Amino acid sequence: MTEYSSVSKRLDGKVVIITGSATAHLFANNGARVVVIADIQDELGQRVATSIGLHRCTYIHCDVTDEEQVKSMVDHTVQTYGQLDIMFSNAGIVSPTNQTILELYLIAFDRLFAVNVRGMAACVKHAARAMVDGGVKGSIVCTASLAATVGSNKWSDYTMSKHAVVGLVRSASRQLGEYGIRVNCVSPSGLATPLLCNAYHMEPEEVEKLVEPFTSLKGVVLKVSNVADAVLFLASHDSAFVTGHDLVVHGGCRPH
Ligand SMILES: NC(=O)c1ccc[n+]([C@@H]2O[C@H](COP(=O)([O-])OP(=O)(O)OC[C@H]3O[C@@H](n4cnc5c(N)ncnc54)[C@H](O)[C@@H]3O)[C@@H](O)[C@H]2O)c1
Repeated sequence: MTEYSSVSKRLDGKVVIITGSATAHLFANNGARVVVIADIQDELGQRVATSIGLHRCTYIHCDVTDEEQVKSMVDHTVQTYGQLDIMFSNAGIVSPTNQTILELYLIAFDRLFAVNVRGMAACVKHAARAMVDGGVKGSIVCTASLAATVGSNKWSDYTMSKHAVVGLVRSASRQLGEYGIRVNCVSPSGLATPLLCNAYHMEPEEVEKLVEPFTSLKGVVLKVSNVADAVLFLASHDSAFVTGHDLVVHGGCRPH
């Protein structure tokens, strides 16, 4: 049996793009040559890039709803660093209003789909093109959600968008297999990031208390680092024969 890769070598020399900055440190700490953070939060993105070191991490403003910005961000990465090995397409939003089917506000629905579905598709498309053109057998990881498996009591648009992400991953993995490019997604349950804290108007500790009953595992709470570890597995050679997979990270989901 092949030995599990030593932690520091898992992304040895890889050029990585991440939309949303939360996992940038983990990628950088695992041997990535360069991590490109693509986001719309300029101050946060710059701060994360600076904390990692500007010789190994760079921030590019990129609104994923604009295909031209996605294309030029990917092109810039390839021109500057020679190739693209890994795309972690992670940017996503929730609607600010309750989106049960009876209350569905379609303007918010369209806005959410522009980011969560259209933006995700644009990132996968342009990353895949760069990998195919460069002859890179790369890895693309998208962020879906547990909502794509179990549904949601109030976020219809979000839940639909994450089902679409799983569909994107399953289709793209079949279409890109002939180039040796793998496409997978990670599906976390609720975790206390700004997305969920803002949606519930709660502090992180309150969000963690709220989601805790839905997990079978007791004494642990889902953290961004747990999700990042799953992403790292899917991005790296440790999952060399895994493609088209939706890796749920939910601590053993209990019925809601
Ligand atoms: N927090 C949860 O409970 C949870 C659960 C399952 C899945 N997710 C998914 O995880 C991913 C990351 O979300 P998070 O929870 O870390 O929230 P977050 O708000 O901290 O991160 C989302 C990131 O996406 C960026 N973003 C938003 N719109 C963008 C746009 N148009 N262009 C580029 N970047 C944009 C934001 O600036 C932010 O950095 C999302 O896809 C989300 O749907 C979150």
